[in-house]
Amino acid sequence: MPKNIFNYKFKKILNDLKRRPEDAALDLGLTKKKINQILEGKKKLEFDLIEKAVKIWPVNYNEFFSVEDDAKHGFKIFKSKASNSTERKMYRGGEAYYLYKDTVMSKVSTFRPEWIQQLKVVDNSNPNNKGVKFNNGHFLHQFTYFIGPVNFYYILNNKKRVAKMNTGDSMYISPYIPHSFTTRKNKKNLLGNILALTYADKLNTESLNEFSAIGYELTKKFNLNLKNKIYAFKSSLLYHLKNSSISDHNFKELTGLNLNRLLKNKKLPNKKVIDKIATYLKINSRDLLPPIQNDYVKIQKYKSNRSWFYPSKYKKDFLFVELTNLSHLPMSKAFELNILNNKNNIGFSVPAHQYLYNIGSSKIKINFNKKIKQNFNPGDSIYLKPNVNYKFSGKGKVLILRIGGSVSSDALYHLSWLSQKNLKRLFNDYKQWFN
Ligand SMILES: [Fe+2]
Repeated sequence: MPKNIFNYKFKKILNDLKRRPEDAALDLGLTKKKINQILEGKKKLEFDLIEKAVKIWPVNYNEFFSVEDDAKHGFKIFKSKASNSTERKMYRGGEAYYLYKDTVMSKVSTFRPEWIQQLKVVDNSNPNNKGVKFNNGHFLHQFTYFIGPVNFYYILNNKKRVAKMNTGDSMYISPYIPHSFTTRKNKKNLLGNILALTYADKLNTESLNEFSAIGYELTKKFNLNLKNKIYAFKSSLLYHLKNSSISDHNFKELTGLNLNRLLKNKKLPNKKVIDKIATYLKINSRDLLPPIQNDYVKIQKYKSNRSWFYPSKYKKDFLFVELTNLSHLPMSKAFELNILNNKNNIGFSVPAHQYLYNIGSSKIKINFNKKIKQNFNPGDSIYLKPNVNYKFSGKGKVLILRIGGSVSSDALYHLSWLSQKNLKRLFNDYKQWFN
């Protein structure tokens, strides 16, 4: 808990519970003076008091604590030397299988990126190779960038599969897909390696806490059918009808449309009909057209990547090579950025959490918010907060992964609905809710 500054978290809890300091004092068995001293940051909020508050009020422990900011200047850099010091060998079936190194991780974002070398060398690309050890899959999304002759194995629809990957190739796997990586035997006896960038998006610690409190039996009832656009429309419509307590009879009266016929239709209704239903249900058309998941595993070979010179083909300062990107994770964007020659002194500012890794062989420099300059050498990695200005100098090659985290989509819309004045207040909400 920060010392000698106003205790915003505690004040917010009191405000939300509509407790004045004297009410809180009564509930917690303290004097009003003591409560005010805690609010003003003159006295520490002791843990036994938090325990008491959690016991008597409908609040949780985490509401009393803040996220620690380990990227105070808008970024966090992790040098290759520090990365090397985290090196650890992983065994599978008693055999050395992977060499792991951490790259940059911040408390502010959900990136959990690892550099991994494939110690297991295979002389064939058979997905059923007994020497290939699969994991059980994991909760986090994974984007992977390949360097060298790496075999990527995965299990989809109960079938083991393999993809022969090389430098620049990339892939995405959704949560809980079992997978494995090996090095393909090669003349130069090189070991392959990957940058395995795992991250959480909208299903994060906070939403999982909520789901786990609701429990599996109740949570599984949500389950929209998002297999294709038509199913997605139908199951979203039923979901909103249920939430609005509108029966098929009511629906007919309200919209003049026959619900049964709509649900039997093998085609998506036209935009006019969808807009009409949305208007009657007082929801948004997009609520009836949720994104569907096309790919559980997506493999992208380097040759088939889209690319563009930035800012234009006449001003070739940068070459963006687009890696595995998917429409159902619209803010997750992976690029290989080639810094060709930043003649025009172009900076970037991106509305996403960003992960940068110098995958090239040359030293570059990076400047943050026109103030702080850092060396960004091969093997170094950087975490960047959303909307931070950054500018490269020198020539080089950088792997970039952007993710939305919880600052995109609905949370972003709700944030944007606040006026500038109220947005400021959100960050310094020390006012009591009445005067
Ligand atoms: Fe993984």
